Amino acid sequence: MVAPFIAGNWKMNKTIRDAVDFANQLKSLYTGLDEREVVIAPPFTALYPVAEALKESGIRLSAQNLSDKTEGAYTGEVSAMMLVDAGCEYVIIGHSERRALFSERDAVINSKISMALVSGLKPIFCIGETLNEREELQTFNIIERQIKEGLNNLNTDDIRRLVIAYEPVWAIGTGKTAIPEQAQEVHAFIRQLIEKMYNENVARDIAVIYGGSVNPKNIGDLMAEPDINGALVGGASLDVESFIKIIRF
Ligand code: PGA
Repeated sequence: MVAPFIAGNWKMNKTIRDAVDFANQLKSLYTGLDEREVVIAPPFTALYPVAEALKESGIRLSAQNLSDKTEGAYTGEVSAMMLVDAGCEYVIIGHSERRALFSERDAVINSKISMALVSGLKPIFCIGETLNEREELQTFNIIERQIKEGLNNLNTDDIRRLVIAYEPVWAIGTGKTAIPEQAQEVHAFIRQLIEKMYNENVARDIAVIYGGSVNPKNIGDLMAEPDINGALVGGASLDVESFIKIIRF
C-alpha cells in the first residue's frame, strides 16, 4: 500500500507572514499520526521561514521549481543545493504552468529531475494532456512521451524517490475535475508504463497522485480509485481549513 500523499502547491501566492501563519495553523490541526505524507510548496521567498515553522511537525516542504544548473551566472535562478539548504525535501518539476508559460520542454524537465535527485531532493514530476490533446484522443501518447522523455536515463533507485503527478491541463484551476474513472484510467496506464520501463515492484510502490481542481468534496471519490495515491492541490490548498479537510479525506 502506498501511503496517501497530499501536496499543496501555492503557486505565486502568500507573503512570508501569511505562509508562516498557515504553517503554524496546519501544524496545530495536523497531528501527523495517520500514515500519510503531507507536503506544502510555498513560493521561494517563504521556504526557509516555513521550514523553521514546520520543524518536528512531520509536514514536508517542497519548492515549486529549480534550476537544472549547479551554480553560477544564471540570473534569477535557484539551485537544488539552495533548496536543500532552505529545508526542502521535495521539488515540483514540469508543472503544466512551467511547460506552457515558461516554455519548459521534456529535455529540460529531465535534466531538472536528474539535478534534484543527485542533490537529494525528491521530484514531484508533473505530466498531463491539454484539452485539445484529449479531444484528439492523444492523451495516452502525450503521457507516454512525457514519461519516457522526462525519465530518460533514470534508474530504478532514482524512480523509487519520485512521485508522479497526473494533472490534466484542462482541469487545473478550472473547477473541472476529471471524473474519478477518467483519472483512474490514466493512472493505471502510468503504472503499467512504469512497470514496462522498470519493474513490477517499482510500479506497485510509486505514488501516482492526481491534480486539477481537487477540493474537500471530490477528494474522497478520487482516493477511492485503486491507482490514485494522493493529490496535488492548487487553489484549495491556500486555505488551511479546506486543505486539512483534503488531508483528512
Ligand atoms: P488547482 O491546481 O487545484 O487549482 O486546479 C492544481 C495544480 O496546478 O497543481
